[in-house]
Amino acid sequence: MTLRGTWAQLVRTKDVDDVIHQNDEDPTAEDHHSRLSKRLSSWDLMGFGIGIVIGTGIFTLTGGQAKDNAGPAIMVSFLIAGFVAVLAAVCYAELASAVPTAGSSYTYAYTTIGEIFAWIIAWDLILEFALGAAVVARGWSGYLQHALGLPHAYFGEEDSVVNLGAVAIVAVIGTIAAIGIRESKLVTNALVVIKVSVCVFVIGVGVFFVKVANMKPYVPHSEKGPDVSGLKQPLWQWISGADPTAYGVTGVFIAAAVVFFAYSGFEAVANLGEETKDPAKDMARGLLGTLVICTTLYVLVCFVLTGMVKYTDLSTGAPISDAFSQVGLDWAGVLIDIAAIAGLTSVILVDIVAMGRIGFALCRDGLLPAQVGAIHPKFRTPARITVVTSVGVGLLAAFVPLNTLAEMVSIGTLFAFLVVAIAVIVLRRTRPRMKRPFRAPQVPLLPIVSALSCIALMTNLAIETWLRFLVWLALGLVVYAAYGRQHSKLARSGANARDSANV
Ligand code: ALA
Repeated sequence: MTLRGTWAQLVRTKDVDDVIHQNDEDPTAEDHHSRLSKRLSSWDLMGFGIGIVIGTGIFTLTGGQAKDNAGPAIMVSFLIAGFVAVLAAVCYAELASAVPTAGSSYTYAYTTIGEIFAWIIAWDLILEFALGAAVVARGWSGYLQHALGLPHAYFGEEDSVVNLGAVAIVAVIGTIAAIGIRESKLVTNALVVIKVSVCVFVIGVGVFFVKVANMKPYVPHSEKGPDVSGLKQPLWQWISGADPTAYGVTGVFIAAAVVFFAYSGFEAVANLGEETKDPAKDMARGLLGTLVICTTLYVLVCFVLTGMVKYTDLSTGAPISDAFSQVGLDWAGVLIDIAAIAGLTSVILVDIVAMGRIGFALCRDGLLPAQVGAIHPKFRTPARITVVTSVGVGLLAAFVPLNTLAEMVSIGTLFAFLVVAIAVIVLRRTRPRMKRPFRAPQVPLLPIVSALSCIALMTNLAIETWLRFLVWLALGLVVYAAYGRQHSKLARSGANARDSANV
């Protein structure tokens, strides 16, 4: 086959209408009968978004990142990460309104820029959701440890041998996801209220315990950290030959790259385009509203937390409830523990269900063997792939530290956002007449800034995170070359279904 032929094969695209009808037959789709009922408002989208976004990022990562990298300036790290997320959200809003179907960025890529890019995004999303579930499971375990005084070795972050708490919650949630019990809307809404209330409570009560002295120095002086040499140093330090340091302005950016994790998940809002009353307006409002609310809560929680307790004394397992215990409000610490445990549980469920659905979509499209994603006859869920991936998540959560896992999720999420920003620019050129109910402003400037900010944050992640990520991507390309390329449904139908009607 010629080079041109191979390229055409790699960038073959699916027809948008086919995708929409295919989704109607998806037995795992939630509520698919009402998919076209257009009932969601921007407020509904925000509620859904906040429910997915607020999790271990703010409840747990804050402690470790303030302690080891940013000090009280962790607030600035959250602002930087929030800014990058907002730019990405605008790009997502354009694609979500143009390709209004469930299936996240994988489907956008498949219908627009081509199969190989869709595969890479899906492979990346599996990483994001699987590792995201593992991070949140470890965060969950940290709060359980704090609430019940369980041994650190089996439930905490520091001195952890094997995290049994995380394994237990993954086992329970994996089973629930495989059996197909979905949270009712009532439970989901209640958990959103609980999570937001905890943040508001922390801000409203904690502010009375803020001591300005705890916030000095605001940006701790940079110093040679014990843990930032070799593979642990950020990629840009290695490229530029700068001395590996901890804290300082560098530390603020390193923390921003890691806490980017706290914003991951908002893209799921974009999946609801088809059910949204007025996607042109509501989608952008829903995505941006989610991020504005979360960023505000995050920054204020960080302010209170680092004001209540000196950053060097923050806990890395359950920093928020521990801070209340440290100022003598044990009862508040217990309340926060309980709320965090409840709130984090739903994030794990969403991640594991999402992982199963991506796996299912890949199998349905022939990019993975059909048996892997087979629908269980009784449970009507992709039970096999859910169980297999949950076992993987459990093993990771058992042995890999939360920070390491979160860095992997951050790099994976940033990479997906980079591809989405590029897709917006490419599509404006290649398919200028495609219907776009919402158009991102200032194209190509905005997506270019979005892509560059994603790259900038990615270079602040450790070399070892890059290596792990590259190995994962390389493995994905091998799987595609060995299987998906020949077996994909498009390959078998010999179609190059570029949607000429939309061009
Ligand atoms: N953004 C979610 C969290 O912080 C995944 O847990």
